[in-house]
Amino acid sequence: MYRYDQYDLTLLEQRTAQFRDQVARRLGDALSEEEFLPLRLQNGLYRQRHAYMLRVAIPYGTLSSAQMRVLAEIGLRWDRGYGHFTTRQNIQFNWINLEDAPDIMDRLAEAEMHAIQTSGNVVRNITTEQFAGVAADEVMDPRPLAEILRQWSTLNPEFAFLPRKFKIAISASASDRAAVQAHDVGIYLYRAPGGEPLLRILAGGGLGRTPMLGSVIREALPWQHLTTYVEAILRVYNRYGRRDNKYKARIKILVQALGADAFAAEVEREWALLCDSPSTITADEYRRVAAHFATPDYADAATDPAVLSAHLAGDAAFARWHRRNVHPHQRLGYASVTLSTKPGIAAPPGDVTSAQMDVVADLADTFGFGEIRVSHEQNLILPDVRQRDLFALWQAAGAAGLATANVGLLTDIIACPGGDYCSLANARSIPLAHAIQARFDDLDFLHDLGELSLNISGCVNACGHHHLGNIGILGVDKNGEEWYQVTLGGEQGQEAAIGKVIGRSFRAGEMPDVVDKIIATFCAHRLGDESFAQTCRRIGLAPFKARVYAQEEG
Ligand code: HEM
Ligand code: SF4
Repeated sequence: MYRYDQYDLTLLEQRTAQFRDQVARRLGDALSEEEFLPLRLQNGLYRQRHAYMLRVAIPYGTLSSAQMRVLAEIGLRWDRGYGHFTTRQNIQFNWINLEDAPDIMDRLAEAEMHAIQTSGNVVRNITTEQFAGVAADEVMDPRPLAEILRQWSTLNPEFAFLPRKFKIAISASASDRAAVQAHDVGIYLYRAPGGEPLLRILAGGGLGRTPMLGSVIREALPWQHLTTYVEAILRVYNRYGRRDNKYKARIKILVQALGADAFAAEVEREWALLCDSPSTITADEYRRVAAHFATPDYADAATDPAVLSAHLAGDAAFARWHRRNVHPHQRLGYASVTLSTKPGIAAPPGDVTSAQMDVVADLADTFGFGEIRVSHEQNLILPDVRQRDLFALWQAAGAAGLATANVGLLTDIIACPGGDYCSLANARSIPLAHAIQARFDDLDFLHDLGELSLNISGCVNACGHHHLGNIGILGVDKNGEEWYQVTLGGEQGQEAAIGKVIGRSFRAGEMPDVVDKIIATFCAHRLGDESFAQTCRRIGLAPFKARVYAQEEG
C-alpha cells in the first residue's frame, strides 16, 4: 500500500482546512450557491436528487482494511449506513449533509484518503485493474506508475481547467480488465524482449453520448517518459480541445477531428520540448514509490492442495463459487477472491453496507495482508488468500451476503444509480437490474450460459458502461416516461467493442422478457462452449432482432 509522506499529509491538511472555511462561508451565506459550486466540485461534492453526494477516490482501486473501516464509519455516522462503489474505482455516499462535509474530509485525510479531483474538468482518479500486482497473467505491476501519475496529476495547476474531465487507465496484464480503450488516455504496460518496461499509449476513448474506443498514438515508449508524454497529450488537448460546446469537449472529439495520426504528430511535437525535462521519471523515484508496493510476506509453505481439493469435491456450492469468484495468483498456494456486491434484489449493484465493509476489512486482515481492491464491475476483491483458507473465507463471506457465485455472469450487472439518485437520469437503473436478477435467479442456468456482461446506464452519460456490455441497456426519455434501449455486441478488454442498438426501445416491464429472448437466441445458436460475445460476433444482430421483435413483425 502507498503510505503518505509529509508532503501528502500537509497538502491534504491545507486542503481540508480551506474547504471547511468555504463551507462555513456558504452556510453563513457569504458565498452564493453559484460561487460555492466550483469549490465544492473541486472536492467531489455534488448536489443530487435528494441530498449532497460525496465521491471519494480509491486510487488504482487499492484500499487498506483500515481505510475500509473508515469508509464504513462514514457510511454509518454521516450517511445511511452504506456506500456505492462505482465503475471508476470511487465510492459515493448519497446522503451527505453539507454541514458534515468538512468533518468527513478530515476523517478521510486521517486515513490517507481524499475526494480531490473526483469531479470537475481535471484528471480524475487513475484506474487500473483489480488484480494489479497479483494477477497470474500480469506482465508487471502497474501500481507504482499509477501512483506516480496520481502524484503528478493531483492539483497540477497547469491542468486545473481542462476543456472537460479526463480519465486515465493503465493495464499491465494479458487480459485488459481496466477497460483501457474506453478512456481518454489508455496505457498498456508491456516488456521489451530485453525486459525493459514499455508503454503503448492510446488516446481518444470515452463513452457518453459519442462512444469511441481510443487509438494507439505511441508504441514502445520507455516507462521513464510516462509523465512527460501524458503532459504533452494534455497540453495538446488543453490548447485545441473545444470549450464552446460541452458535448464536443472531450479529447475523443479532438482526436476524431484531427485524425489519430495528426493528433499523434502534434503530441510528438509537444513532447520534443518536454522529453528529458525534470519531470522524467528517474530510476530512484520509481524505486522509492515501488518500495510501497513491495511483495507481502507470502508463505509458500502454505501450499496444501489436498485441503482445497477435498472441499471442492465435497461441496458443489463451494465448487461453483470457486469456479467463478476465485482467480489465479502469481504465487503458489494463493488466489485472489472477488466478493460479489450483486446478491440480486437484496441490494443494488455496487451498494455495500457499513456492516459489510467492516466484515470485508476483517476478512482482509484474517485471510490476507489487510488489502482490498475495487473492480470497475463494482465488486470487492481480496487479492491474497491462501488456497487452503478459501473454504473458510467462502463461509464467512456468505454469512455477510458477499459470496454470490456470479462473477462474470448475467447477474453480475453493472448499473449506475440512475433515476433513484441521479438528477441527470432519464430512467431508473436499480429496479431494472433487480427485475433481471430476479428473472435469472437459477445459478445452474447462469453458469451454463457462461461469461456474459449486462450493463445498465440511466442516461446517455454512460456511467454504467452500457456500451461495453455484451447486453447494454440505456434509459431513455419519451415524453416524460421511462424507456429502455438495448445494445448488443459490446465488449470490454483487449477485444473491446461498442455495442449496437437493436431497434425500438422498451418499457421497464418488458425488459426481463426481452433479455429472456436474447438469451434464448444465444442458446439456440451457440456452438459448444462459445461465450455470448463469440456467438454474437459470429451470427450478428439479425437473429436477436428477429426474436425480440417477432410479434410486431409477425
Ligand atoms: C450520481 C452522480 C453522477 C453524475 C452527476 C455523473 C455525471 C456524469 C456525466 C455528466 C458523464 C458524461 C461525461 C461526458 O461524456 O463528458 C458521466 C460519465 C461517466 N460516469 Fe458518471 N455520474 C454520476 C455517477 C456515476 C457513477 C455512480 C458511476 C459508476 C457507477 C459513474 C461513472 C461514470 C463513467 C464510467 C462515465 C463514462 C464514460 C466516459 O468517461 O466517457 N458516474 N457521468
Ligand atoms: S448514466 Fe446518467 S443516470 Fe446514470 S449515474 Fe450517470 S449521469 Fe446519472
